[in-house]
Amino acid sequence: MMQEETHISLKPYNTFGIEVQADKLVHIQTLEQLKELIRSGAFTSGPFLILGGGSNVLFTKDVKGLVVRNELKGIEVLREDDSYVWVKAMGGEVWHEFVLWSIERNFGGIENLSLIPGTVGAAPMQNIGAYGVEIKDTFDSLEALDLKTGALKVFSQTDCKFGYRESIFKNEVKGSYFIASVTFKLHKHPVFNNSYGAIQQVLEQNGVKELSIKAISDAVIAIRSSKLPNPAVIGNAGSFFKNPEIDITHFNTLKEQYPSIVGYPTSPGKIKVAAGWLIEQCGWKGKRVGNTGSHKDQALVLVNYGGVKGEEVYQLAETIKKSVADKFGIHIQTEVNII
Ligand code: FAD
Ligand code: EPU
Repeated sequence: MMQEETHISLKPYNTFGIEVQADKLVHIQTLEQLKELIRSGAFTSGPFLILGGGSNVLFTKDVKGLVVRNELKGIEVLREDDSYVWVKAMGGEVWHEFVLWSIERNFGGIENLSLIPGTVGAAPMQNIGAYGVEIKDTFDSLEALDLKTGALKVFSQTDCKFGYRESIFKNEVKGSYFIASVTFKLHKHPVFNNSYGAIQQVLEQNGVKELSIKAISDAVIAIRSSKLPNPAVIGNAGSFFKNPEIDITHFNTLKEQYPSIVGYPTSPGKIKVAAGWLIEQCGWKGKRVGNTGSHKDQALVLVNYGGVKGEEVYQLAETIKKSVADKFGIHIQTEVNII
């Protein structure tokens, strides 16, 4: 039996802790339930929203129609060779629990992505990334169901068109598929990525002599816990904006005026600038506006001090965007999905 609720609060289902109502919420626990829902025409007869952990959404109004929560569970080793193991995780698995599962077995490649909230199924949506690693680095393929026909389609790495916080699922095929499972190609002989300065510092502080994926995961968890607000304590959806990429000529001009500007080269002639730095320079860091504001330790994160409306957070985000554009001539973009 499919678990269904009507006129229900979505507050427990979004890490921003925004109070909105859904007309109807359905919990999907088996593929058969999902197929049945597709056959019933639920995705062609009116508005719908697919939800994982609700850690990258901002609700600005009540959600009309159907909300479908991905609760598909299961992790399975598909095959292995001397170097790699192919692991399939169902979309409703909690991302960090899947990371811990991999670390326990010494399967490497996703340890730098420890403690990112949300589900496995949402991870390819924006090609989640942190500390020098993105899921595209270990991604093999995913299975998704066509919401019109119910047909199962396999998307390869190239099909997904991964970019920085981008994929085909946020663009060309937005709203057309339900990501049911993701298969990763993990390393049996881990290759460590500790290039991110802060990781090395923490490894030294922790007195780590011999690198392991567990040691890197612990370091990442320590860094994240020290600067990112815990949604269980203060509502947020992580970085609210993306780090913008600008031309090197624009960057060099800014650097003359603002020698402390933070940026690093990405592709030839392009520099990615730390949006947190831009926002902080505009005076927003730690500033509270009503029940929202920019976090005191990480300006890129907008928070809910309690009872805020999504619309207020959205308005603050627009004001911040404008002040960054006015001061630096840079148009920053929202990372969070505005619903
Ligand atoms: P949701 O918020 O539920 O959904 C996000 C979007 O994906 C929505 O548009 C939804 O409709 C769609 N969607 C969800 N599941 C499916 C599915 N199965 N099929 C089709 N569409 C789907 N992100 C990073 O990349 N790096 C970070 O370091 C990072 N740090 C964070 C720290 C904090 C404290 C928080 C709160 C968030 C952070 N995030 C980070 C953002 C967030 O964790 C990721 O974007 C995560 O992948 C969202 O997963 P979710 O299950 O919560 O997705
Ligand atoms: N900075 C400031 N002021 C601030 C925040 C940052 O000046 O208030 C500057 C600092 O100089 C710092 C630099 O910005 O050195 C980078 O900051 P940080 O290492 O915290 O990373 P970020 O660029 O702000 C990105 C991701 C995070 C990810 C971290 C670690 C984006 C939009 N955000 O943040 O992802 O965890 O790197 O790799 O790319 C998310 O997507 O939700 C998210 C949290």
